[in-house]
Amino acid sequence: MSRVLKPTKLSQGKRQFASDNYAGVCPEAWASIAKANAGHVRSYGDDEWTAKASDLIRELFETRCEIFFVFNGTAANSLALASMCQSYHSILCHDTAHVESDECGAPEFFSNGTKVLTIAGENGKMDPADVERVVTKRDDIHYPKPRVVSLTQATELGTVYGVAEIKAIWSVAKKHGLSMHMDGARFANAVASLNVAPKEITWQAGIDVLCFGGTKNGTAVGDAVVFFNPKLAEEFDYRCKQAGQLASKMRFLSAPWVGMLQDGAWLRHARHANAVAEYLEQGIRGLPEIKILFPRQANAVFAELPRKVIDGLWERGWMFYNFIGKGGCRLMCAWDTADSDVDDFVADLKSLLKRK
Ligand SMILES: Cc1ncc(COP(=O)(O)O)c(C=O)c1O
Repeated sequence: MSRVLKPTKLSQGKRQFASDNYAGVCPEAWASIAKANAGHVRSYGDDEWTAKASDLIRELFETRCEIFFVFNGTAANSLALASMCQSYHSILCHDTAHVESDECGAPEFFSNGTKVLTIAGENGKMDPADVERVVTKRDDIHYPKPRVVSLTQATELGTVYGVAEIKAIWSVAKKHGLSMHMDGARFANAVASLNVAPKEITWQAGIDVLCFGGTKNGTAVGDAVVFFNPKLAEEFDYRCKQAGQLASKMRFLSAPWVGMLQDGAWLRHARHANAVAEYLEQGIRGLPEIKILFPRQANAVFAELPRKVIDGLWERGWMFYNFIGKGGCRLMCAWDTADSDVDDFVADLKSLLKRK
């Protein structure tokens, strides 16, 4: 159930700032699905589209890796984490992490009870010293043994971990024998923001498993679980099947990835979404009574807006959340958000600010 204001007639069809999930399917993914819809092909992932998508992901990361396509990010994260832990272990993540607060306990459920331990940290990021503190807090048999660090990239607060920041957490993880998981629901936006090769913020920085998000980048459905550590991928296919995550017509999950990856659409769309978010930030930064809450580094702007402005924008048909992460209004841009959407939104916001 959504906690955003009910859509009014005005909002129907309008591009919104509520979520990058509100956007439709990008043309490249759509064309690829249409192409994949020809004739009969083998099922359950034993098809050419899935092989091709997996090869393109290997090319992108410039390494050998094992890839599995599942229906969504919650399944990707939960099953990946379950494959990295025993039930008596613990997973360390930021206190705003999706795996902690927005997956209805799925990581704990699929891992048969592995405990999630949360870490506070500025701007949605964990500090390595805090990771160390939680790992070394206790070493007795009564404490759920820390086993995995999970980073969200880009973070829930629209910020991004730099290469050095990931490596600093990795050095703590290595020291204590922990594996590294990355929730990359917005991995594309992070790569676009940092302007790095994908390998630099994944396996070269210690990431064992990446959940590579497709939907927020422009696909309809289907995220990729990418195992850089092949040991952890053992029997992952069984885990997917048991969890109801093995698509019989797998080509429709994998074909969009071919469309997204083969000519770089994934990065183009992410760069675009980030750039529109920057434009939005510039449009509202410095306005009276508006406070930008976190450094905008990807495709989301978080801002504190006066109550009358929030209500007024909602009444005018704008949809956005005001409860994500640490609060404030989250204004999220997608692959199809246009500068003109920002102009319209900012114009409404300014007119509401002027009202007494
Ligand atoms: C950071 C993060 N991780 C994972 C997900 C994936 O969630 P879903 O299961 O809705 O695809 C989301 C979606 O909002 C997210 O924001």
